[in-house]
Amino acid sequence: MRLNSHVIKPVFTKTYPLVSHGKGVYLYDTHGKAYLDGCSGAITANIGHGVPEVIAAMEKQANKVSFTYRSQFTSEVAENLAEKLASWAPGDLEYVFFVNSGSEATETAIKIALQYWQEKGVKGKYKILSRWMGYHGITMGSLAVSGHIPRRIKYVPLLFDSPMIDPPYCYRCPFHESYPHCQLPCAEQLEKVIKREGPEYIAAFICEPIIGASGGAIVPPPYYYQRIKQLCDHYGILFIVDEVMTGMGRTGRNFAINHWGVIPDLIALGKGMSAGYAPIAATIVSERIIDVISNGSGAIMAGHTYSAHPQSAAAALAVLDIIEKNQLIQKVAEKGNMLMRELKKIKEAHPIVGDVRGKGFLCGIEFGDFEQKGLSERLIEKAFSLGLLLYPAMGGSDYYGGEGVLVAPPFTLQQEDMNVLLQRLDQALSLLEEDLKHG
Ligand SMILES: Cc1ncc(COP(=O)(O)O)c(C=O)c1O
Repeated sequence: MRLNSHVIKPVFTKTYPLVSHGKGVYLYDTHGKAYLDGCSGAITANIGHGVPEVIAAMEKQANKVSFTYRSQFTSEVAENLAEKLASWAPGDLEYVFFVNSGSEATETAIKIALQYWQEKGVKGKYKILSRWMGYHGITMGSLAVSGHIPRRIKYVPLLFDSPMIDPPYCYRCPFHESYPHCQLPCAEQLEKVIKREGPEYIAAFICEPIIGASGGAIVPPPYYYQRIKQLCDHYGILFIVDEVMTGMGRTGRNFAINHWGVIPDLIALGKGMSAGYAPIAATIVSERIIDVISNGSGAIMAGHTYSAHPQSAAAALAVLDIIEKNQLIQKVAEKGNMLMRELKKIKEAHPIVGDVRGKGFLCGIEFGDFEQKGLSERLIEKAFSLGLLLYPAMGGSDYYGGEGVLVAPPFTLQQEDMNVLLQRLDQALSLLEEDLKHG
């Protein structure tokens, strides 16, 4: 079969509209159809499209210099961006290593964790524990620690072994328990795996604070991360949180882990960091880790040609300035509560919906138990034709069950846009229910 263009698209048989432009919370195709960006693309366009201040900041930087190589120069924008990220981060997470994608950010965090133990003189700590249903990226290293079954299944023979614990997935609890009566067996399982694998071999545990692409905004119960961190500390294991999707204000706090008041050792960032204006991502590293490496080799063995790209750094810095100046994180917390109240009403009105959950502007809708598969994609298609963009969430495969979508609009969503989003979502669910009635 010949493809219909030279671009290899995600699904060969699908026809993708040609985008014309983006403005605010809308994207437009070349036929003039408007799409309300109900998922910020890939939970990325956090301040909406076509913001003139960001474009101006990139142009200003391009007029100075677009590219410098990190082993030859640093730039004012990269310095300022790192300082800003450190000021957003909790505790002693002070230092920033720039990369270009979320996959690179999590993989770099893993490498830094291994390097930390080696340079501290602790030999043998090389295993990375992770969690089923987590997603940390598509490169081999980040995929090895990803429990997103459909994305990893083809490459399993090449992936390093990463012992995984079950997800804190209350809607379909893998332990058949229910919170608050349970004793958090999902957190206690970490201790079992640590003891089984041997803490002397374990460098770090990595997870998404709120499970995004795989689980549809699965929010672990209260005290879950306090217990996880306690176990990591007790057994001498670094705690890496992957805030690629949840970070930079998306959940109504700077970072999702802040909801639990826990300070990790490393944070991986991407996506919303530059809100899609230019590719840039980062690993934030605690002072304790940097101290050990600076007293040892004095360099982190990672990096890419485009690391700390000045034009991308200028874009990210402008995005974060806009978020701060307009107090968008506080607004996301407030508007997120409103959105969740409305999604609960939608759940009541649609028997097909089994659960709604999330924090801030990272909300998940999960279908109940149905024979039919592919409901996420079918809902997304229906919403798309009505002019609403939604994001798929279905990484549990048949083992954990569950299919859903993410609703994650830009932080700049106004009340009238929210009304349009909810009305189109309601309509798309009704259309899907009609379809299911007719087989
Ligand atoms: C939590 C999380 N980590 C890592 C990644 C990988 O980021 P990227 O696609 O930028 O490589 C993603 C992408 O969806 C993600 O959701």
